[in-house]
Amino acid sequence: MKVYVWGTGCGAGDLIDRGLDPSEISAFLDGEGRGGSFLGRPVIGPEALQGADFDLVLVASRQAEAIAAKAEELGLPREKLLFLKNNWTLKDRNLSYEAAARVLPRELLEELRRPELPMREPLWLEQSPLTARDLENDCVRLRSLEAICRRLSGVPGDAAELGVYRGGFARCINALLPERQLWLFDSFSGFDEEEVRHQAAGLVEAHRLTDGEKVLSLLPHPERAVIRKGFFPETAAGLEKLRFALVSLDADLEASTLEGLRWFWPRLSPGGALLLHDWANPRLPGVARALERYEAELGKALPGVPLCDVCGTLVLTKPRDLDL
Ligand SMILES: C[S@@+](CC[C@H](N)C(=O)[O-])C[C@H]1O[C@@H](n2cnc3c(N)ncnc32)[C@H](O)[C@@H]1O
Repeated sequence: MKVYVWGTGCGAGDLIDRGLDPSEISAFLDGEGRGGSFLGRPVIGPEALQGADFDLVLVASRQAEAIAAKAEELGLPREKLLFLKNNWTLKDRNLSYEAAARVLPRELLEELRRPELPMREPLWLEQSPLTARDLENDCVRLRSLEAICRRLSGVPGDAAELGVYRGGFARCINALLPERQLWLFDSFSGFDEEEVRHQAAGLVEAHRLTDGEKVLSLLPHPERAVIRKGFFPETAAGLEKLRFALVSLDADLEASTLEGLRWFWPRLSPGGALLLHDWANPRLPGVARALERYEAELGKALPGVPLCDVCGTLVLTKPRDLDL
């Protein structure tokens, strides 16, 4: 068997630590011409494989894009390359595991096939109730939500989302906080006509087609959810005494976001978190403006930590020992 490992860094070392016997490796490949040896095996340039016969190349480097391009340039058969690092995407770039199954022990292959998710350890994230479909959505946003929810134990209050749309994120909140009441605020018919007057037609149209009942049917714990259909803040009337441990504020536009901040921030429990979606989204500048306006009203900046998720969420948190 001719097995090569592409990479001479931590990924390659990790492969050995996980049980690959170095004596079964013909050589390590290194695109930077390092040469010499690694873990007792020779280090050669990938060009050496051009036209050569081999069984498998285990790509144990995060430079997956560059390596895939180089392999193509050298004419290496794609099905004989097994990419082990997918650069934080959740997509498996491997076309086939057949060549690997002929070479690697079954347990090691199974271990390597598990998707590499950010924050895979510790175990509690492995046991996440989120499904693969949820995680396709916005990995950083959802993984951050998981971590935040874990920090909420002992924080009193319900959960809420303003701006539910088709319930993609509400589903995740409901799965992660099954013990908490989940208040779902949305018109379920799109944005307020007045507020949306100068917005792009696509954004407006795309948000019209939603249905509260359908959202409920998608939730893993629908009995914990309450739909408040209509325009916020009118739909919050009568709920003034509630307190919240987690709020997802995802209303897209300035006036509704400002109303959301005015209503939810004073009701956020100490230790709670308010996820302000789109705060750094250049296509929805009204969200950041709403926060600026609210902070000006309060006369102070709110404590917030930005996420590097797709739409630039800002996580506003209320310290446990301070009731702002
Ligand atoms: C971007 S979508 C929410 C997406 C959802 N949070 C998710 O992650 O899947 C924004 C939603 O906010 C709702 N919305 C905006 N302003 C509102 C208001 N004042 N009252 C009720 N719903 C509002 C719209 O109807 C739309 O469904």
